[in-house]
Amino acid sequence: MLTETSEWKKLKKHFDEMKKKSIKELFEQDKHRIEKFVIEDVGLYIDFSKNILTENTIELLIKLAEAQRLKQKIEDMFSGKKINNTEDRPALHVALRNRSDNPIYVNGKDVMQDVKAVLKKAGQFAEDLRNGKKRGFTGKRIRYVVNIGIGGSDLGPSAVYEALRDYHKEHITVLFLSNVDPAQIEDVLKIVPWEETVFIVASKTFTTLETMTNAETIKRWLLENAKDKNVVKYHFVATTSNKDAALEFGIDPENIFLFWDWVGGRYSLCSSIGLPVMIAIGKDGFFELLDGFYQMDQHFRNKPFRENIPAILGLIGIWYNNFFGAQTHAVIPYSYRLRKLVLHLQQLDMESNGKSVDREGEPVFYNTGPIVWGGMGTNTQHAFFQLLHQGTRLVPIDFIGFFKPSFTISDHHEKLISNIFAQAEALAFGSNEGPIYKRCLGNKPSNIIMAEKLTPASVGKIIALYEHRTFVQACIWNINPFDQWGVELGKKLAKKIIKDLSLDQITEHDPSTKRLINRYKKLRMLEKSFEYPR
Ligand code: F6P
Repeated sequence: MLTETSEWKKLKKHFDEMKKKSIKELFEQDKHRIEKFVIEDVGLYIDFSKNILTENTIELLIKLAEAQRLKQKIEDMFSGKKINNTEDRPALHVALRNRSDNPIYVNGKDVMQDVKAVLKKAGQFAEDLRNGKKRGFTGKRIRYVVNIGIGGSDLGPSAVYEALRDYHKEHITVLFLSNVDPAQIEDVLKIVPWEETVFIVASKTFTTLETMTNAETIKRWLLENAKDKNVVKYHFVATTSNKDAALEFGIDPENIFLFWDWVGGRYSLCSSIGLPVMIAIGKDGFFELLDGFYQMDQHFRNKPFRENIPAILGLIGIWYNNFFGAQTHAVIPYSYRLRKLVLHLQQLDMESNGKSVDREGEPVFYNTGPIVWGGMGTNTQHAFFQLLHQGTRLVPIDFIGFFKPSFTISDHHEKLISNIFAQAEALAFGSNEGPIYKRCLGNKPSNIIMAEKLTPASVGKIIALYEHRTFVQACIWNINPFDQWGVELGKKLAKKIIKDLSLDQITEHDPSTKRLINRYKKLRMLEKSFEYPR
């Protein structure tokens, strides 16, 4: 067991010494500290000096990684081994952005031809839509695209769509429809004229309740408007691994962009799921994004752990999570454009590492994935940073920023950037000035992740960094980060309850749920216009 290994025990012992240290004294004791704890590679600048750790901590963490066979596990992932053991398949998102000519095999077949063919087809579709070659059912030009998807089929694409707004080409606006709440579809359909809108049904499984309900409703709406069933072929597109279900829905085979079961939903941004991004920034822009992913993949695969950004940041996360007992991990991008990134990283990390059974099916007796949360700086400073500075909890933080602005308006960018640096400084070193209620004890750890500029490539690097950081931690904890069985039970019960809400009788539930269902029914039946949905 992990906690019984000599590497873990050494870390535990080391922690007993380190827990008394402060970041301030660590800097005072080692004049060369900053040179040791900055990595500059693949166009990123990573400062991890403001952590409660020494060179010895890093060495011990790397020893732990070696004992957990991290290097071998990375190779297993890149070479298409079936590392998603509970679903008996590889997790090969790295193949989606393999920008080399090297083949990658799944079950003895090189998948790169299929990957490239889909990218080419999607690229062509994106171009045709924008240049007006592909038009709507009545011949009008397409001005809107609505991505109907949820989870990995929504959060990654919508975060990157926003992130790369400065790279959007003209003519087409993309909207994201994810929630089954009728309010969202109502809002979307108020904006988009049917003759000028393409709807992407983005769903790996093509069975997800929210997505399929929204897609069916929009299909009815289109049919009502066009009064011709051919409208579906013009206005619907699918990005999915379930071709049969997409065909069954009525989508033209030409408009189906496939990906594969070896791509996890939250890792699918570089597959056809990225189509809305491709439409917005064009295929060349999308390839730049893939280049960024690929560069970080290569860095992760090839660099020794001491210089390896995802490995170092993953191991620092283990240090706080498993030794300091930190329950959460905050990510704060100082970038308005990256304001949706945290939602994507939250799914990526929490759906991957929110596990309590190891790869051998044994319960684990140590903490696994933390609660990942955050928000956009500087706004968060005026919201929850008080707790980070003076609260009682330890919250390790990643700050993300860009040295250069996307465009200059007086000194806005300088004001933005100085706040990242100031927050990390204040958190680490605190202040003893004034009465006790004004003091900040400091010793609050953070990493600073800086790229030169917000570009498709730098966004790709940052997301790939977090994907691999998540993988590093899963390898240490010996859990499978590529399944998500925990979400199934709720889906199953919701299906049962949907029927209970519509039928006269109700199936077996606990007393609380039963009463809620009955209360719902009573209130709804009092509405004049009420009809049971059938
Ligand atoms: O319910 C969780 C989940 O399966 C995620 O893992 C996934 O990203 C999301 O639902 C959407 O799934 P799909 O792309 O199959 O609609």
